[in-house]
Amino acid sequence: MAEPLIAPSILAADFARLADEIAAVAGSDWLHVDVMDNHFVPNLTLGLPVVESLLKVTDIPMDCHLMIEDPARWAPPYAEAGAYNVTFHAEATDDPIAVARDIHAAGAKAGLSVKPDTPIEPYLEILRNFDTLLVMSVEPGFGGQKFMPEVLPKVAAVRRLVDAGELTILVEIDGGINADTIEAAAEAGVDCFVAGSAVFGAADPALAVARLRRQAAAASSHLTA
Ligand code: DX5
Ligand code: ZN
Repeated sequence: MAEPLIAPSILAADFARLADEIAAVAGSDWLHVDVMDNHFVPNLTLGLPVVESLLKVTDIPMDCHLMIEDPARWAPPYAEAGAYNVTFHAEATDDPIAVARDIHAAGAKAGLSVKPDTPIEPYLEILRNFDTLLVMSVEPGFGGQKFMPEVLPKVAAVRRLVDAGELTILVEIDGGINADTIEAAAEAGVDCFVAGSAVFGAADPALAVARLRRQAAAASSHLTA
């Protein structure tokens, strides 16, 4: 497997100092930005104007996680703005392939996310339309929740298809990733680890990113290339 990617989630950062907080994790692979609309999830965070401003202050590829209704309408503008990867939820649309197509046409990679209780089998066939799969390991809506290891079989199922050459996709995991949980996720075959509180809650966020990356690399080193 390639080197693990670490994506700090700014949901756990100080929203009054976002540019400084992002500068503190300059060595990260992706920057994870949680967009919530208070409809798809019972919480409200930030939207396109903030993402546009953040894109001006960082070169870290931006990974926008849209926990919103009607992604067909709202997702493509994040791609047009310059996000690297735009992920929306399988549960939020009847036509995920069309949304992926529009995100690609607007110039970004497209990601599909599934909540903890959503099975992956019905989506395996359409994953070839996506660049990333974001497996939620907490109920979406809030940071700082406990990791749900029961979602890892979904990671392993997709990993098997990738290893068999039947699919090319990066598998991301999001929710409750920290020094105690990242190894299990890495062993299941995760490529990209989102971490909010474990990074921005640390005294030294850059060091936290480096440690998580090292831990994930060690835990996945025996997996097939
Ligand atoms: C939750 C968000 C996560 C959140 C993760 O709905 O999608 O990205 O920030 O936070 P931690 O790492 O604290 O669980
Ligand atoms: Zn997220």
